[in-house]
Amino acid sequence: MKAVVLKGYGGPEVLDFDEVDDPTIGPEEILISVRAAGMNRADLLQREGLYPPPDPKPQHEILGLECAGTVEALGERVTLFRKGQAVAALVSGGAYAEKVSVHERMAFAVPENLSWAEAAAIPEAFLTAYDALRDKAAVGAGSRVLIHAAAGGVGSVAVQLAHWMGALVIATVGTEEKAKWVQSLGADQSVVYRSQPFLEAAEAKGGVHAVLDFVGQAYWDDNISALVPGGVLVIIGTLSGPMASVNLGRLLQKRLTVRGTALRTRPLEARMALMQEFSQRVLPAISQGVLRPLLDQTLAFDEVAEAHRHLAAEQARGKTILLW
Ligand SMILES: NC(=O)c1ccc[n+]([C@@H]2O[C@H](COP(=O)([O-])OP(=O)(O)OC[C@H]3O[C@@H](n4cnc5c(N)ncnc54)[C@H](OP(=O)(O)O)[C@@H]3O)[C@@H](O)[C@H]2O)c1
Repeated sequence: MKAVVLKGYGGPEVLDFDEVDDPTIGPEEILISVRAAGMNRADLLQREGLYPPPDPKPQHEILGLECAGTVEALGERVTLFRKGQAVAALVSGGAYAEKVSVHERMAFAVPENLSWAEAAAIPEAFLTAYDALRDKAAVGAGSRVLIHAAAGGVGSVAVQLAHWMGALVIATVGTEEKAKWVQSLGADQSVVYRSQPFLEAAEAKGGVHAVLDFVGQAYWDDNISALVPGGVLVIIGTLSGPMASVNLGRLLQKRLTVRGTALRTRPLEARMALMQEFSQRVLPAISQGVLRPLLDQTLAFDEVAEAHRHLAAEQARGKTILLW
């Protein structure tokens, strides 16, 4: 099969096409003929050698954490899918290829109202955002939530989900254009962080019960200040850097919880449980058009280097998708 392989670690120029062996499938795995693959910032880090794939190391280091396509082959114990069915899946790598194999419980049947690109935009963003809001921060009706990087692939889904769960949403973004867009997704207030401190906006609402943070270092102090007593800070990314100086007294006095989350390093069993919960609780709302996968750009796999430059430029609203 054809795949995008890494010639080394570095800039987009290390992305190259090569012929590699088809993936093998285990008894509970399906082989997916990939039609579309979602792109993630983790792909940029892995390309630079800063985000190695989990063990066991694959024979070829192929990027790509999510895809949509048709089921081409089934392991002997597969019960959830049949050949030819349209599925989308969360994988630990390998989606920038014509085929990828995955445990059947890491996939879901694609709702009929979605294109291949829309289906491929779902797994990483929806699972990460749903897990952060529901499991890590226990967000529900009446919660006030601060969501950073809200126009990004994960942030834009988090805004929709939090609104759908009945929370009041304050969203931070880099431009006025993004601010209007996240309001159209359900944010009650958007803050252009370059011109207004987000802490001011959070305090004006009486503080927030949860913060979904992708920024890290630069936002640590104000995130802690923005939380009400008993609030939860969920660290999903560290876009500004990973270091923070912690005043433990403030955590103690406000009885705060700080939780980190990572999807790819989680044991397979935990990822499967999350996928099943997502399929039961959230996928029906996507099928009904209540929640939407949001596409910024779709590019052909031939344009993969350009797609990486586009994602790195941080202009995107929603997801960037590669199509065969
Ligand atoms: N823990 C996990 O399991 C998990 C899963 C998925 C993603 N992530 C992480 O979550 C982060 C977001 O992922 P994504 O796919 O949503 O990325 P994305 O679509 O590329 O969006 C990221 C956005 O963050 C904003 N940003 C970047 N640097 C910033 C900074 N220094 N300060 C404030 N805002 C900044 C930019 O928007 P503005 O122009 O609005 O500033 C950028 O467009 C990444 O770090 C990614 O690695 C973690």
